[in-house]
Amino acid sequence: MTITQPDLSVFETVESEVRSYCRGWPTVFDRAQGSRLTDEDGHTYLDFFAGAGSLNYGHNNPVLKRALIDYIERDGITHGLDMSTTAKRAFLESFQNIILRPRDLPYKVMFPGPTGANSVEAALKLARKVKGRESIVSFTNAFHGMSLGALAVTGNSMKRAGAGIPLVHGTPMPFDNYLDGQTPDFLWFERLLEDQGSGLNKPAAVIVETVQGEGGINVARADWLRALAALCERQDMLLIVDDIQMGCGRTGAFFSFEEAGIVPDIVTVSKSISGYGLPLALTLFKPELDIWEPGEHNGTFRGNNPAFVTAAAALDTYWADGQMEKQTLGRGEIVEGHLKAIVAEHPGAFAEYRGRGLVWGLECTDKELANKIAKRAFELGLLIETSGPQSEVVKLLPALTTTPEELDEGLRILARAVRDCA
Ligand SMILES: Cc1ncc(COP(=O)(O)O)c(C=O)c1O
Repeated sequence: MTITQPDLSVFETVESEVRSYCRGWPTVFDRAQGSRLTDEDGHTYLDFFAGAGSLNYGHNNPVLKRALIDYIERDGITHGLDMSTTAKRAFLESFQNIILRPRDLPYKVMFPGPTGANSVEAALKLARKVKGRESIVSFTNAFHGMSLGALAVTGNSMKRAGAGIPLVHGTPMPFDNYLDGQTPDFLWFERLLEDQGSGLNKPAAVIVETVQGEGGINVARADWLRALAALCERQDMLLIVDDIQMGCGRTGAFFSFEEAGIVPDIVTVSKSISGYGLPLALTLFKPELDIWEPGEHNGTFRGNNPAFVTAAAALDTYWADGQMEKQTLGRGEIVEGHLKAIVAEHPGAFAEYRGRGLVWGLECTDKELANKIAKRAFELGLLIETSGPQSEVVKLLPALTTTPEELDEGLRILARAVRDCA
């Protein structure tokens, strides 16, 4: 594709240096539909990024758009703090009937502020309040958000340094497969918990992602997650699963922990819960943990009513009949097949490919290669992100509604980008 130089001047002169995605994709996007974005010069891009996991049902999904337009046109409540509204009622009813009840999950639903980090902050605060302890255990290469509490349980040193103050009350432990694959899981962690001389303050909770998205698509085994849940139970620590990126069907099941058969004490949900890219977050917890005082944790944008409308429409459309999980697992196999072929075509270039459902990563042995591939893919009309501590993993996160033909098309572009760079 021939790329004319877009007019980026106002972004470069007015917008902060902190901007990031626009640097890797130097064009001005204008419209989007399904898995394709179009820039202001009319070039289209196939999207294997999906708003960092916020657009599991694609851009401007027509069913959700219709529900939103109808709601806005009838002057439905847009802003309502945490007042009871018809939109919130419809969402809670759908969430209970379609998601919680069939899975036998007893959770109460809290609406923190609308971002993922807001949900993580609420989860950490509640765990500390319930247990009366300060310390939280997180895992190597974890990512939980940019606010100070969430950053304290995040691994990335560059992001941590941005805090400007000490990040305290968080202790990292090795994630699944972080060590040599020989050391028994949780040997170190349990030893510290049991040794009065270890220096580890007894944690209130452990926070974990079942698949680390930003950390490099590190997939925890179901056995490892089950052992972690058992350890939390034995040691009287709450288990928080951060399902902000991997929930809402990304790994197949609605919640990413379902495959392991565990029931976390607290679950954070955001990104794709609104289904439309509108900000919305939930913090779910077992009813006996619901010891909040009214208003003890609040926020102006808790009840994002337009997001409730699209969220309810997404659940009703995609999750009522149990088909979504099968479809995602099937489409994941298409991705896996292509990645296997790419790795076989370039011996030595890739350490591994790995993933679950429709989240996949291709780990490059040369740490610079992933960014080169992503850059070339953009030139060829494909949006892909990188992740991992040194951005060494090419990350594939297509919308769950991406058709098999679009997956083939995008993966062929990826294969060509790899050929051009490896
Ligand atoms: C697992 C996880 N937790 C928390 C967050 C933070 O969400 P937000 O950027 O909406 O604050 C993210 C964002 O990528 C995430 O992937």
